[in-house]
Amino acid sequence: MDKTHLVDHVTGHRRMRRNRKADWTRRMVQENRLTVDDLIWPIFIVPGTGIVDPIKSMPGVNRMSVDKAVEAIREAADLGIPAVAPFPDIEMNLRDETGSAILDPNNLINQFTIAAKKAVPSIGVITDVALDPFTSHGHDGILREGMIVNDETVDQVIKAAVLQADAGADIIAPSEMMDGRIGAIRRGLDAAGHQDVGIMSYATKFSSGFYGPYREAINTSGLLKGDKNAYYISPANGTEAMRDAALDVEEGADMLMVKPGIAYLDICWRVKEAFGLPTYAYQVSGEYSQIKAAAMNGWIDGDRIMMETLLCFKRAGCDGILTYFAIEAAKKLGRV
Ligand code: PBG
Repeated sequence: MDKTHLVDHVTGHRRMRRNRKADWTRRMVQENRLTVDDLIWPIFIVPGTGIVDPIKSMPGVNRMSVDKAVEAIREAADLGIPAVAPFPDIEMNLRDETGSAILDPNNLINQFTIAAKKAVPSIGVITDVALDPFTSHGHDGILREGMIVNDETVDQVIKAAVLQADAGADIIAPSEMMDGRIGAIRRGLDAAGHQDVGIMSYATKFSSGFYGPYREAINTSGLLKGDKNAYYISPANGTEAMRDAALDVEEGADMLMVKPGIAYLDICWRVKEAFGLPTYAYQVSGEYSQIKAAAMNGWIDGDRIMMETLLCFKRAGCDGILTYFAIEAAKKLGRV
């Protein structure tokens, strides 16, 4: 056999494929692993009892009344999922210009948290304090003369955070992107005796088309006038996102989030590298729906792509992923 072609084609006889040759070598050299501990499950809550209502644009995801949601999170806890992130679909007649229902200690989100902590205390509850489920215009803050007003919104968000902590929320996750909110919420929680309640900042939240199905799920799509470009980050801006995250770290965030996920893996990597805080990606509704839709058409292997995308978040430096796939993925992974 002519050996010269080896020298021609494989530089210095280095062969990357030696480590890939068998299942056992591949397992030996695997750098990143996905486990059930990495999965945080976002869920949608509706008023009433006994309700499990499928969301058309998110096949496999349901809006659930508090009683059904509590059953579902018991299953999640049994599967080993560490935390859930509830989002409420508030009755239309309770939504107004300022999102005042977020200040009702017995609103839907707080009802869920109270019931969840009582029935399944072992699972963490991570609540959002953005106003969008509560406003008649679908924006995350208080709207005055066509503008989302920053400081007035922050005042309301602090009160909402304290009420959510009173209800038993373990981590407050503010997603409304107002300036100064992390420090303000920290001071508010501390003053109310909630020193142990953490803050997971939606530190880099981009103004994204991937949120479409979520807006159907909580019925804000028909309400939203205009866009959220005046407070979310432009998808064009990575350095600006880093400055935003740096402020949140300085103001006392315990954990950081990047949202959306798969199109923003560079941001995940930069955030983790720069700050070293626990860092999470939110694989948002549109990302979930894209995968489901293509899989339902038989165009891709949905399970494979679910697991691949989740693993890629780990490779990009994330400590976990908020994902609508949490239950499905946990069932495949098994308990740690
Ligand atoms: C808003 C909020 C959004 C999501 C969660 N909270 C985005 C938005 O509607 O602007 C999106 C989650 C998803 O798409 O899965 N505070």
